[in-house]
Amino acid sequence: MDLAGRARAVLAANRRGAWTCPSSTLYPHQWLWDSCFIAIGLARDEPTRAADELRALFRGQWSDGMLPHMIFAEGVKDVGSRRVWQSKRNPRAPRDVDTSCITQPPLVAIAVQRVAANLPAGERREFLAELLPKLTAYHSWLYTARDPERDGLVTLIHPWESGLDTSPPWMGALERMPMPWWLRAASTLRLARLLRRLRYDTRHLPAVERSSDDDGLRMLALAVLTKKYDFDLQRLPPNRAVLIEDLAFNALLVVANHALEEVAADLGEDLPAELCTRFRSAEAALESLWDEASGQYFPRDAVTGALIEVPTIATFFPLWWRGLPAARVAQLVARLQDPSQYWPEHPVPSVPLDATQFEEARYWKGPTWVNANWIIIDGLLTHGETALAESLRGTTVDLVDAVGSYEYFSPLTGQGHGADDFSWTAALTIDLLHQRTTRG
Ligand code: GLC
Repeated sequence: MDLAGRARAVLAANRRGAWTCPSSTLYPHQWLWDSCFIAIGLARDEPTRAADELRALFRGQWSDGMLPHMIFAEGVKDVGSRRVWQSKRNPRAPRDVDTSCITQPPLVAIAVQRVAANLPAGERREFLAELLPKLTAYHSWLYTARDPERDGLVTLIHPWESGLDTSPPWMGALERMPMPWWLRAASTLRLARLLRRLRYDTRHLPAVERSSDDDGLRMLALAVLTKKYDFDLQRLPPNRAVLIEDLAFNALLVVANHALEEVAADLGEDLPAELCTRFRSAEAALESLWDEASGQYFPRDAVTGALIEVPTIATFFPLWWRGLPAARVAQLVARLQDPSQYWPEHPVPSVPLDATQFEEARYWKGPTWVNANWIIIDGLLTHGETALAESLRGTTVDLVDAVGSYEYFSPLTGQGHGADDFSWTAALTIDLLHQRTTRG
């Protein structure tokens, strides 16, 4: 079977009715940004199904507009996660599905726009009209609940919201978090090994490919803390919580804001003026994450206001914003091609090779991910960097073709890691193959 056929088979196997799980073994529920990538891939051959994938995400929308990062599948047992959240205890959560209580990168307006572009005219308008108010409610929630100080950048309250879960800036901040007594006891008594037996992911995969036990425990402790304060940024105690103006999230949000404005314009509707004002200040605020001394973007600690100067692949995400000044584009493009940092045999590593935190096979601490590559490719094309975009598209598609639809890959050897038959790898490969045909 050819690569596109194999990718379609992965998506078919992971399909659960209207929506698609990221992996039948490791991730049996619906995830927010996964479904966005999946819909973007599906839109190429099956736009109606892609539209349903996105509609299914809004089953989970809270009454205040929040879109949760997970919607739990009925009847699927898993050890911890549903119990951590207990969403139905919260009056704002939906009654008929269990969800998580935090969000994930806000790609959904972008996915809606791309899916709509592939729908037949009649269906297209209906789909956009149905989703516009829901998207508007989500973006409004992001700005009111997560940027109450109106500095233009939204604050995340948990690394799972960033999508790049165990990325070094977050894990460094978590290490500095005061630990609850039960976590201190767990590390003193070396209970981590015991707890690993309870973990779902390391039953399926080697521990070296996943978050470390310490990182895992801290992320769990932080989830418990956020729950105690009703997941409310304004109630969370700044000295005990971890609050970050995340770079990847805010860069993607600027692009999604544009997509939402275009969807509204397409329908001849106006977005609330207040929201559009927020969108403009978000664009300006992105620039405040630029560090002139090192020539890259960083996330910011929302409590101290200091940039967290730990380099990651997220520095390239602002490339996706078409308003990015040409000087920034040039600096980022030069960095991307540096073989000692971001351009080894199988680019693009999620952490640069020369960083102390780089780990070839561990989750978001070094491996190459197809979704990040796809964003960077689109960003390069946005700024007319066609040759580099084609080159990255070539290495990405060849890697999946040779190795399989893995969750992530060693940037040095290309070995596949994490879940195999992973949905967004398959979906975005379909999209990249289409780009090759349409762009020649
Ligand atoms: C992992 C990733 C996250 C993704 C989820 C489901 O937790 O870090 O970004 O959404 O898996 O695939």
